[in-house]
Amino acid sequence: MTNLPSPEDRRNHYLIPAALASLLFLGSLRIFLDTFKNSHQTCPFFRPQSGGYRVIRPPIRVSDEETIKDGCNIFEGKWVQANGSYPLYTEESCPLLVKQVTCQKNGRPDSSYQKWKWQPDGCNLPRFNALKLLEILRDKRLMFVGDSVQRSMFDSMVCLVQSVITEGKKSLRKQPPRKIFRAEEYNASIEFYWAPFLVESISDHATKHTVLKRLVRLDSISNHSKQWEGVDLLVFESYVWWMYKPVINATYGDLKHVQEYNVTTAYRIAMETWAKWIETSINSRSQKVFFMTMSPTHLWSWEWKNEGDGNCYGEREPIKRPYWGTGSNVDMMGIVKDVLGGLRVNVRLLNITQLSEYRKDGHASVYGERRGKLLTKEQRLDPKNYADCIHWCLPGVPDTWNEILYGVLLQDYRGS
Ligand SMILES: *[C@@H]1O[C@H](CO)[C@@H](O)[C@H](O)[C@H]1NC(C)=O
Ligand SMILES: *[C@@H]1O[C@H](CO)[C@@H](O)[C@H](O)[C@H]1NC(C)=O
Ligand SMILES: *[C@@H]1O[C@H](CO)[C@@H](O)[C@H](O)[C@H]1NC(C)=O
Ligand SMILES: *[C@@H]1O[C@H](CO)[C@@H](O)[C@H](O)[C@H]1NC(C)=O
Ligand SMILES: *[C@@H]1O[C@H](CO)[C@@H](O)[C@H](O)[C@H]1NC(C)=O
Ligand SMILES: *[C@@H]1O[C@H](CO)[C@@H](O)[C@H](O)[C@H]1NC(C)=O
Repeated sequence: MTNLPSPEDRRNHYLIPAALASLLFLGSLRIFLDTFKNSHQTCPFFRPQSGGYRVIRPPIRVSDEETIKDGCNIFEGKWVQANGSYPLYTEESCPLLVKQVTCQKNGRPDSSYQKWKWQPDGCNLPRFNALKLLEILRDKRLMFVGDSVQRSMFDSMVCLVQSVITEGKKSLRKQPPRKIFRAEEYNASIEFYWAPFLVESISDHATKHTVLKRLVRLDSISNHSKQWEGVDLLVFESYVWWMYKPVINATYGDLKHVQEYNVTTAYRIAMETWAKWIETSINSRSQKVFFMTMSPTHLWSWEWKNEGDGNCYGEREPIKRPYWGTGSNVDMMGIVKDVLGGLRVNVRLLNITQLSEYRKDGHASVYGERRGKLLTKEQRLDPKNYADCIHWCLPGVPDTWNEILYGVLLQDYRGS
C-alpha cells in the first residue's frame, strides 16, 4: 500500500491550487529604493583627471578558463557544494532585495540552499564577473520580460552587479509595468517588464491585477511590444500564469467573443503571436533575444519521495537523481521548442527547467510573503496551505540562471 495518489488526483495536482495562485500576485506593491546605501567598492574604470573623468575601457577578454567548450550542453549537469565561494552576494549586501525573497531574514533556519553551484557535465561555467557583465551592457539595455519568477531573475541580476557600482551612480526606479535599474557610469540599464502572458491580458497592471480571473488576448501584443522595441538584450519567460486551470478564457480578434481555450492551445497561439513580433521587429545584428523555459514548482512531495502529502517545506537538499516534476508540462515545453524552432530570428534558449527541477530546497516556502505580507506565525505552522513552492529565495537558484546567461553572453566576445 502506498500513498501514491490515483491518476485522477495526479491530474488535479497538476493544476496550481487556488491558495497558491494568490502567490503569483505578490511583490509589486513595494517601496523602491532610489539609491543604494551600502556599497563600498568604487569603480576602477574611472579615474579623476584635471577636474573631469577620463574613461578607460578595457576590452572584454574571454580567458581560456571562461571559455565554454563548443558543443557542451551547460544545462546538463549536477549541483555541487560550493564550499565558501557561494553565495555570490548576501541578503545584507543587496539592500534592494524585497521581503518576498529574503528567506534568512524571514526566519529560514538553514542556509545551505545558498551554497550550491551548478556544474555542467561536459565543461565549466565561467565565474560571474560583475565588471565584465557591466562592460557587456555598456550603452545597452537588458530587459527581462515575464512574471514574478522572471522578476526574481531581474532582482538577482541587480544584486549580482550592484555592489561594484559607485555609490550615487546607481538607481532603481519603478515605472509600471517596468522596474529600471541604472548604472550611470556604464550608461547601462537592467530592466524588468511585467507581462505574465507575454501577450496582452487583464493581468497586465503591474500591481492591480485580477487575482483569480484571467482573460488573455491571444492575438494582441503591441501594448507591450512597443516598449520592447530596440532593446539590446531581451530575456522572455511565460508559463505559470497559464497553469491555473486546464482551460483559460481568451479572445482572438473580436474582444466581445470570449471563449474557453485549452491552455496548451492558447499558449501555442500566444507564442505564435509573440514569434510574429520577434520576426518582424528584431534586428539580429544589434539585438539578442533569449527565451527562458519554465521555472519548476515543488508543490507535491510525493513526486520525489513517493509518499506523504507535503510540499517543498522543510526540504534542505537538492534531488540527486533524475527527476522531472509533473508541474513542468511537457506539452507546453514542446510548444516552446516548436515555436522557437520555426523562427528565422535567432532566439537562444535558456533551458533552466531541468537544473531547477533538482532544487526542491530552493523555494521561499513559509519564509516568504503572501499578498505583500510576511506570513504570520500561525500561517508558518501550516506549510501545507501556506508554503510558497513556486518562488525562490535569493540568493539562490535564479542566480544560477544569471550565471548561465552571463556565461553565454560572454562567449560572444571570444576572440575579440
Ligand atoms: C565541497 O566539499 C564537499 C564535501 O567536502 C565535496 O564533496 C565537494 O566536491 C566540494 N566542492 C567543491 C566545488 O570543491
Ligand atoms: C546610452 O545608452 C543608450 C541605449 O541604452 C544609447 O541609445 C545612448 O546612445 C547611450 N548614450 C551614450 C552617451 O552613449
Ligand atoms: C492596449 O492599449 C489600448 C490603448 O491604450 C487600450 O485601449 C487597451 O485596453 C490596451 N489593452 C490592454 C489589454 O490593456
Ligand atoms: C470564463 O468566463 C466565464 C464567464 O465569466 C466563467 O463563468 C468561467 O468560469 C470562466 N472560465 C475560466 C476557465 O476561468
Ligand atoms: C482540449 O482538451 C481536451 C481534454 O484534454 C481534449 O479532449 C480536446 O480535444 C482539446 N481540444 C482542443 C481544441 O485541443
Ligand atoms: C529543455 O531540456 C529538457 C531536458 O532537460 C528537454 O526535455 C526539453 O525538450 C528542452 N526544451 C526545449 C524547448 O528544447
